[in-house]
Amino acid sequence: MATVIYSATASLDGFIAGPGGDMSWLGEHLGGENEAADRLLARLGALLVGRVTFGGDDPNAGTDAEGAFGGQYDGPVVVLTHRPPDDQPAGVEFATDLVTAVERAKALAGDRDVNVLGADVAAQCLEAGLLDEVLLFFVPVFLGDGTPIFRRPGGRHVHLERVPGETEHWYRVVR
Ligand SMILES: NC(=O)c1ccc[n+]([C@@H]2O[C@H](COP(=O)([O-])OP(=O)(O)OC[C@H]3O[C@@H](n4cnc5c(N)ncnc54)[C@H](OP(=O)(O)O)[C@@H]3O)[C@@H](O)[C@H]2O)c1
Repeated sequence: MATVIYSATASLDGFIAGPGGDMSWLGEHLGGENEAADRLLARLGALLVGRVTFGGDDPNAGTDAEGAFGGQYDGPVVVLTHRPPDDQPAGVEFATDLVTAVERAKALAGDRDVNVLGADVAAQCLEAGLLDEVLLFFVPVFLGDGTPIFRRPGGRHVHLERVPGETEHWYRVVR
């Protein structure tokens, strides 16, 4: 059964996008070696992507590195949206409810794993008990405002445990 992993690169004050979805702050930190990201990428069989992320800023836009994982991901994508477009780009499916989207992404992933992109979708996966792991990378910038890593009104505590042998901020969700 596929593991569902939320990954993101965040500012040190906990935002994955700046105000208005600004991703320009990430550009100068991209392109270096990141072995944990490489290990994640090697495990992935599908992406589950929120509609805002799907249509959002890409700091690599217009370059060979455009797209998920610096353009290195080449597999199925399930986009969660209430308003699916008439046209489906190749390799992209649209789903209109969370459980269907997660099930479809897992089915597409086969014996590999699912990566969630988008804080809103990730938080819903967490609340629904559908999120297995969280992998965070941090870059040395404060954004002050924007999209938090997780926005979860009500503040229920969620406990995490380190994935043994893995990079510092790779966790399993304790259920
Ligand atoms: N730093 C990083 O590593 C990183 C990684 C990924 C993304 N980002 C950025 O972070 C931001 C993420 O934005 P976000 O967290 O606000 O949004 P998101 O999770 O990317 O997408 C949220 C959207 O997904 C759709 N959706 C969510 N739940 C749904 C449900 N249960 N049923 C049907 N549709 C549903 C809705 O779209 P509709 O309005 O179409 O219905 C909703 O507006 C973006 O700016 C993105 O560029 C950063």
